[in-house]
Amino acid sequence: MIAVARPLLPAALALVLGCGHTPKGPATPAEREAASARAREAVEKLRSSLGRELGAALKRGGPAAAIAVCAERAPAIAASLGDATLRIGRTSHKLRNPRNAPPAWVAPLLAEYQKNPGLASSERLIGPGRVGYLEPIKTVTPCLACHGQTLDGSVEEALAKRYPKDAATGFAAGDLRGLFWVEVDLRRGR
Ligand code: HEC
Repeated sequence: MIAVARPLLPAALALVLGCGHTPKGPATPAEREAASARAREAVEKLRSSLGRELGAALKRGGPAAAIAVCAERAPAIAASLGDATLRIGRTSHKLRNPRNAPPAWVAPLLAEYQKNPGLASSERLIGPGRVGYLEPIKTVTPCLACHGQTLDGSVEEALAKRYPKDAATGFAAGDLRGLFWVEVDLRRGR
């Protein structure tokens, strides 16, 4: 959109080289809205894929066997939804896997969500041309088999083996379990 105001040659070169332009101005409302829409869509895909795979695994082999789905499929699905302009993940104030620690911009907001469990999803600029999106993850009954106050012995054992520092138990239905976070880079990939 700013290409007209630029010298033609670099613009043409950028086109040929496929690197696009890097606008210097702040993101426009329309760009932010488009970024939020992409973020919401990515969260929806992660939530539904994970729910589907976890549900099927629970049915097949019970919670002890389904742990592998959460351990392996959750990070794989999140990675597959990302690209050069979008990153997505899950985090929590009570972590099971330390690799799900919040990115720096998410950490203070996670504390806000913890203090105000009624907070809805939110969007903000987190850097020049970067939009951050957060969506709360509520605990529902099926989660309790692996995140609840009392776990089956076999589940406890399987979790202890994989996650010696597991802090993601003791939740009740309705509790905030954590957040989906998404970063969208408006300046790349255009
Ligand atoms: C079969 C056991 C199991 C069930 C059921 C389960 N989880 Fe998990 N959950 C895990 C495991 C294992 C991990 C660690 C995944 C990893 O290594 O990234 C995890 C990680 C998470 C994380 C990432 C943050 C962290 O603590 O590492 C969130 C958020 C989460 N679960 C939410 C839920 C919600 C919400 C439900 C119910 C809809 C649910 N889980 C049901 C086993 C389970």
